[in-house]
Amino acid sequence: MSPQLREFLQQAAGRVEETLNAALAERIAGAEALLAAMHYAALGPGKRLRPALVYACARTLRGDRFDPAHCDAAAAALECVHAYSLVHDDLPAMDDDDLRRGRPTCHIKFDEATAILAGDALQTRAFELLLDSDADSALKLQLLGELAHASGARGMVAGQAIDLAAVDHTLAPAQLEQMHRLKTGALIRASARMGALLGGADDSQLAAISRYAEAIGLAFQVQDDILDVTADTATLGKTQGADAARNKPTYVSLLGLDGARDKLAGLHREALDALAELHGDSDLLCQLADYIVQRSH
Ligand code: IPE
Ligand code: IPE
Ligand code: MG
Ligand code: MG
Ligand code: MG
Repeated sequence: MSPQLREFLQQAAGRVEETLNAALAERIAGAEALLAAMHYAALGPGKRLRPALVYACARTLRGDRFDPAHCDAAAAALECVHAYSLVHDDLPAMDDDDLRRGRPTCHIKFDEATAILAGDALQTRAFELLLDSDADSALKLQLLGELAHASGARGMVAGQAIDLAAVDHTLAPAQLEQMHRLKTGALIRASARMGALLGGADDSQLAAISRYAEAIGLAFQVQDDILDVTADTATLGKTQGADAARNKPTYVSLLGLDGARDKLAGLHREALDALAELHGDSDLLCQLADYIVQRSH
């Protein structure tokens, strides 16, 4: 990773963590465990990739006029939905995992009911963050729509439903791709599009950013499937081999490790091709695509 990308990722993470800390500071008597669980889930040591995409897309389009403060609410909202999705993904009724980001999962650290409620509340907090942001009303509505569309039964939740229904079954390649595009790609696509909207994208820029994000969003989950096989638990911060242990449909189970790596390389090229259509300085987004396919955890 270049020093520039490292610095950019650190700054993005710092900003979103500050926003999340402020957003999760309130304490309601009797609901202390709920707030503690929300804080634990949202502020654990994650990569903050979705927030980074928001800032990176806005910065790419705004150039010298980029002000990261205008992106803070959207970045934090995406991380809230992402954190909620992880809390629920780890529950016994779903993937039943006890390790996340190198620490006990939310339902192990607290209890199952608290983890369910923390996920619920993180999701609605995301929409409040957008509602309270400084964007003008028209932009705010667009951002709310992007996040709602990507999160629910036409996006991430649909992907999770397909994932659970597919355990112990073999999916056709097109079905597996659809599942990955929904469960992981949708929120990554929304991150890039929300950043682009905050950056004042015109239709053709929004289309190019969407194509880029669809490629890296799918690539992100292909690499997640690969790392489940090739990485170790300490590096991953989650239990290695969990997919195979639960007979999950993944790119590795469908295509083998080499086939999954070929798929990843093809998606990487697609992402870079889409950036060429932006006709501007897209070095930061190129580097983010490189990072997504090369990441070790
Ligand atoms: C993990 O996401 C879940 C997937 C969608 C594959 P990340 O790998 O972005 O998790 P954190 O936020 O860095 O922990
Ligand atoms: C994650 O897929 C998808 C969502 C959380 C929406 P995985 O189940 O593969 O994610 P990990 O491997 O547990 O992080
Ligand atoms: Mg899962
Ligand atoms: Mg999982
Ligand atoms: Mg996984």
